[in-house]
Amino acid sequence: KETKDQLIIDAGQKHFGATMCKSCGMIYTASNPEDEMQHVQHHHRFLEGIKYAVKLNCGFLFLWQGWKKERVVAEFWDGKIVLVLPHDPSYAIRKVEDVQELVDNELGFQQVVPRCPNKTKTFLFISDEKRVVGCLIAEPIKQAFRVLSEPTGPESPSSKECHRAWQCSNVPEPAVCGISRIWVFRLKRRKRIARRLVDTLRNCFMFGCFLSTDEIAFSDPTPDGKLFAAKYCNT
Ligand code: ACO
Ligand code: ZN
Repeated sequence: KETKDQLIIDAGQKHFGATMCKSCGMIYTASNPEDEMQHVQHHHRFLEGIKYAVKLNCGFLFLWQGWKKERVVAEFWDGKIVLVLPHDPSYAIRKVEDVQELVDNELGFQQVVPRCPNKTKTFLFISDEKRVVGCLIAEPIKQAFRVLSEPTGPESPSSKECHRAWQCSNVPEPAVCGISRIWVFRLKRRKRIARRLVDTLRNCFMFGCFLSTDEIAFSDPTPDGKLFAAKYCNT
């Protein structure tokens, strides 16, 4: 009993029953299951965040060494776009998985298993400093639901049907290509990297034709993703 009191004092907490985790800094009530649950989640996210920050600082995660026969599908003055397909060298696949993990972490997505992993196409924007600064993951789809209006809250019925918080149509429209992830490194945003990734996708997704904006669909758009998509599709 005494050691427990001591521990609480050590943690510097002010409210009775609360503890501060010495690893992640969260103050929570250990006896409250809901609090405990939130702590476990925060703890995990915090440590994952540190893991990525370390990788990031070491320049590890995003360094792109490429391979001899990498598929350069577009070149620009500030970088190039490389297409990675499911049967490419494990070096490229691992890099894609690392980037996707980081993106999912940033977007708060749970691990999403692609519907047809064999048909996934990943476009990486490699900066002239040989860093992966943009990523677009696309897969073939047959239909999509048009986004109708602003978010109506996470509990709205439409969010259940469409798996997203936006109000969307329940009339499916034909589509060809779904963008399951699009992401640009924070310090490189608003330099038209996402736009160039989507342009390149439209050009390369199906051999011999340029997809119209009606044929591509963004899955589960975030606020950033929605602003970008709205702008992209109207210009
Ligand atoms: N706010 C307002 N308008 C925006 C924004 C924004 N955050 N982002 C893009 N736009 C519009 C602008 O009009 C922009 O043109 P401008 O800069 O000339 O005004 C136009 O879209 C083109 O933007 P890009 O420069 O090509 O976009 P960027 O390279 O910055 O990437 C992205 C946009 C991918 C959404 C980026 O902000 C990002 O990675 N965000 C975090 C991850 C994320 O939310 N991804 C979308 C998830 S949804 C999904 O994956 C299906
Ligand atoms: Zn903790």
